[in-house]
Amino acid sequence: MPRPDLLERLAVQTAERSQAQLQRRLRTIAHTDGPWVESNGRRLLAFCSNDYLGLAQHPSLIAALKKAADTSGVGSGSAHLICGHRREHAALEEALAEWTGRERALLFSTGYMANHGVMQALLQRGELCVQDKLNHACLLDGAQLAGATLKRYPHGDIDAAARQLRITTEGCALLATDGVFSMDGDIAPLRDLAALCDSEGATLMVDDAHGLGVLGNDGAGSVAEAGLGERDVPVLMATLGKALGCSGAFVAGSAALVDGLIQFARTYIYTTAMPPALAAAAHCAVAMARSESWRREKLNHLIQRFRRGATELGLPLMPSRTAIQPLLLRDAQRALEASQALEAQGLLVVAIRPPTVPQDQARLRITLSAAHEEAHVDRLLEALASLRLADAPV
Ligand SMILES: Cc1ncc(COP(=O)(O)O)c(C=O)c1O
Repeated sequence: MPRPDLLERLAVQTAERSQAQLQRRLRTIAHTDGPWVESNGRRLLAFCSNDYLGLAQHPSLIAALKKAADTSGVGSGSAHLICGHRREHAALEEALAEWTGRERALLFSTGYMANHGVMQALLQRGELCVQDKLNHACLLDGAQLAGATLKRYPHGDIDAAARQLRITTEGCALLATDGVFSMDGDIAPLRDLAALCDSEGATLMVDDAHGLGVLGNDGAGSVAEAGLGERDVPVLMATLGKALGCSGAFVAGSAALVDGLIQFARTYIYTTAMPPALAAAAHCAVAMARSESWRREKLNHLIQRFRRGATELGLPLMPSRTAIQPLLLRDAQRALEASQALEAQGLLVVAIRPPTVPQDQARLRITLSAAHEEAHVDRLLEALASLRLADAPV
């Protein structure tokens, strides 16, 4: 029997996805200007970026990046442990540790890599990793790649999480959750999870990619907002590519955690350090996210305006008070058509469909930003009203 051809098999899978009308499509953005993007020659008002504080194009960040590039160049030249760790990285790590109230912080090139690195450094083969079913793909993949025994509890269900932790009381256990769920916008029951981990002797890890900058006093995130410290959440991960408007990620915690990750996290060790100029821009973003609380206030005002309007229209809102405000349309084709109809009206809102979300849970993932104005939200509501989504079966 000849071996099956790998690329042919992949092509068949791609064709199947296309037939199911679930294919993912790449869109090239020619230009961005605040919440506006130019795509296929059209200017669209976007409600799908994670630039929640409107920092991605801020002149101060751009100036910080240019200044550091002038002195440090573009690429870091090597991994952190060779000669890629520059003073811009070190300064950013200190600022992140201070902001999150942790002893130390360690930079990773992406959030995906940070989560993989943590899982692989902490967990040994067969050890228990309990996770919320709606956790981001990289937490779930990270546990699997580490060879851990992955148990997923129904979304936000503390009792189920407790049952899964008690499957075995022997050996180490990690419970990992998103702080703010990326496709739903709701917040994990962090205080209950921390109490559970405390009573079960498990370690709690929170991925606060969508909470940092948005929630908590001076934007320190969902964990700070819940009043939890390093003892309650020993492993805190967050990204620099969302509210901070840059790219990259970090893990914050005790000096022992960071020292251990430097020794054992392969996605930290065997990769080029992020460009130092990017670290300088992210450092500037941290200072602005902390001090310019008007950005959070404006964002919250827009969130409330959107939710009020959407409720009046009878739209299928989800229980979220964060910048992620999905409309649950359930049917994938309906979500796609709604997204296309919005685009025809000059709005960019993406449809999120299986397998990114569970079957029959397709949605429009609407995100708001301090870069939006009230008139933008009103325009979105008007366009949504014209789609008659309120009639969607729930
Ligand atoms: C909750 C969550 N964690 C991690 C990531 C990955 O971060 P990055 O984009 O930096 O790889 C994302 C999204 O990108 C996310 O939504």
